[in-house]
Amino acid sequence: MFDNMRYVVLLVLVMVWQYSCVNAQHIIHLADLSEEQHEINPYLSTKVPDRIMLSWSGDPATSQSVTWRTDGSVLNSYGQIARLTAMPPEAGDIKDISGSYKSLVWVSDLSHYHTVRFEGLEPGTWYLYRVGDGEHWSEWNRFRTASQVPYNFSFIYMGDAQNDIREYWSHVIRGATMNAAGARFILFAGDLVLSSGGDYSWGEWFEGAGWIFRTIPTIPASGNSDHIRLGDPEIDTRLLYPQYLLNFDTPGNGPIGFDDLIYYVDYQGVRFISLYSNFESIEPGKLVLIDHERVVTEDIIHIQTEWLESVLRNNPNKYTVAVFHHPVHSARKDRENDRLREAWKPLFERYSVDLVLQGHDHLYARGQIGERGPVYMISHAGPKMGNLDETGVALHWTSKTGENMQMWQEIEVLEDHLLVTAFKEDGVVYDKFKIVKDTSGNISLIELQTK
Ligand SMILES: [Fe+2]
Repeated sequence: MFDNMRYVVLLVLVMVWQYSCVNAQHIIHLADLSEEQHEINPYLSTKVPDRIMLSWSGDPATSQSVTWRTDGSVLNSYGQIARLTAMPPEAGDIKDISGSYKSLVWVSDLSHYHTVRFEGLEPGTWYLYRVGDGEHWSEWNRFRTASQVPYNFSFIYMGDAQNDIREYWSHVIRGATMNAAGARFILFAGDLVLSSGGDYSWGEWFEGAGWIFRTIPTIPASGNSDHIRLGDPEIDTRLLYPQYLLNFDTPGNGPIGFDDLIYYVDYQGVRFISLYSNFESIEPGKLVLIDHERVVTEDIIHIQTEWLESVLRNNPNKYTVAVFHHPVHSARKDRENDRLREAWKPLFERYSVDLVLQGHDHLYARGQIGERGPVYMISHAGPKMGNLDETGVALHWTSKTGENMQMWQEIEVLEDHLLVTAFKEDGVVYDKFKIVKDTSGNISLIELQTK
């Protein structure tokens, strides 16, 4: 619960913000930023589309959303799409789509974040697309829709990038994508960027990924570090980066009031559920905001848990994968997340969730808990390293751990099992196992030999 002073601070913050929002969706003033965020940003927007990102607001078999950024002078949001053939698309093959944009003022720079949704697509088909304002276009990029036939695909799972992204994370995501050629999407377990990194951090993230986000869709979850630390002198205030909400076009099937953050995507026999675990950051002296209207309180646990149960209960898919940032079971000392464990773990077991993908601890750990329990994994991709508590908490639930490595994972979805391979940053396999679920919903983790 918040004390009176926190409410007063919040009320003032909301009033100032609402006054500022007359002409723009999101405004960040210089005074909002902490000192380290004041550095000069080399990633300013221009008329040419950048930060182009594929995500899903609809069925991955028949739709594809594209988001991108321009400067504030660009008032049109257009997409063009054609089937991929051996020839460049001709005028008669191209379909034009109109989209929309939202504004972000970052200190003194106005950017527009655009979205188009390509719909009515053919399943299992490659397309070419480009986005722009009719004058300044992106290059033609390609993507592939999901098949209507279940299973037989792979995806990449990555933990925290977080810090020194350009310097040290760039080659990891590029290596992952080259290694797992054919992966259908990349799932991020939060801490995409640095809380003190400002817009610069997002610039690094997009530069690191290069063309990858324009070609391979993402399924993100947000972490604590995806919340910018505001320079509020009274109270430690964290606000979800507006860029986080603007960069992804998510399905909107989550709980009312949070459906831009919490959602599920069904992809070829798997339900992927993305949850918001940052209520774990609520503590005395700390305020967490999603935007100028939404304060994170304990209510988000109950609202989310009720919704989670409904999407687990009404799930036609064989497999279920959950992704969020804070681990159900930590592998580091004094980093347990009791609130989410108490709320979600029983549901994961009751509804035979196969795999729970997490981040936050900056190390590698995985293990299964309970017969019907999912396999829990923690991984990270960036250069920040955390130490395992090998004699304490990690012992109780892990069957494989690692530290001091940057990593990525490829997960193959097959009809009779999930095959999980964890790679070190140099491409060497560090861990490999299968997850098999029987007809009663019991889950078995089967170890596979690694060198
Ligand atoms: Fe984190």
